[in-house]
Amino acid sequence: MSPFRLTRTLPEDATGAALRADVLQGLTGSPRTLPPKWFYDARGSELFEEITALPEYYPTRAEREILLARSGEIAEVSGARTLIELGSGSSEKTRHLLDALTGLHTYVPVDVSESALTLAGRALAAERPGLDVHALVDDFTGSMTLPGTPGPRLVAFLGGTIGNLLPEERTAFLASVRAALAPGDALLLGTDLVKDEEVLVRAYDDAAGVTAAFNRNVLAVINRELGADFDPAAFDHVAVWDAGHEWIEMRLRSRERQTVKIPALGLAVDFAAGEDLRTEVSAKFREERVRRELDAAGMEPVRWWTDGEGRFALSLSVAR
Ligand code: SAH
Ligand code: AVI
Repeated sequence: MSPFRLTRTLPEDATGAALRADVLQGLTGSPRTLPPKWFYDARGSELFEEITALPEYYPTRAEREILLARSGEIAEVSGARTLIELGSGSSEKTRHLLDALTGLHTYVPVDVSESALTLAGRALAAERPGLDVHALVDDFTGSMTLPGTPGPRLVAFLGGTIGNLLPEERTAFLASVRAALAPGDALLLGTDLVKDEEVLVRAYDDAAGVTAAFNRNVLAVINRELGADFDPAAFDHVAVWDAGHEWIEMRLRSRERQTVKIPALGLAVDFAAGEDLRTEVSAKFREERVRRELDAAGMEPVRWWTDGEGRFALSLSVAR
């Protein structure tokens, strides 16, 4: 069996301190917001996997279609010996890339979800003798400490997760990815594309209510970690298309006037009836914007592929 290592680059308490800071800032501000990374405890990661199989949620299937068709070309252009995957989750689609990257020495999945990393990393290491799997529990929006692995390096950021960053976070993120690469190293980026509003809203408000459960899960995380008394059933799941920003917003809407106590912060938060808490943005892209942002970060886009229906794009860029 090939080696599996898991490194927690965040100090043991850093996650707790970061959650407290984010909840304090997000729930005392106006409008109320929470960063989406807090969805992904073990339950949130499971719910996300369920979302990927929903008939309404097309991005995973569309991106898999592209990876199946293009992994050989990605391997050829990148010549990668190290694959670093940010927000790797279950690493399911990554299997197509791993099959194609015949010269690969090390796979570095990076995620805030330790449960997802352990499940996926152990399975991959067991299945692929000779591949060094070095998982990192880390926040890709911070300054990541990546292991010194052999180049060329390919960074993969799949699923359209870049859309969950706000525009200014996205700029800082792309700059930090570029800083982690040597000239000639590559970035494989998945971006969901602007499309019909109805299709988009359905993808984020499915009939079976799995996305609603995923959205409410962030309240369960805050209850467990900070001793809060959110009643998830007292909030409605809402998905709206913001045409100005070209992003979907997921919100939790307070059904009634209520006060939520968060003892770890010494905080009581009043919600008016109908008041929204924004839990996620999921930006949708056009080719021109993706190219412009990559170029501004010092990356040269060399390939742009979409699925057959033009719903989702995968781009490959090379660091200048
Ligand atoms: N790449 C997978 C999973 C996407 S879900 C796919 O395409 O299906 C988003 C993943 O990113 C989750 O596993 C979540 O835990 C992780 N994630 C979200 N915010 C993160 C952050 N700030 N730092 C590291 N991982 C993060
Ligand atoms: C991980 N990310 C790309 C997903 C998305 O589509 O924005 C998270 C998600 N939120 C609701 N459904 C899926």
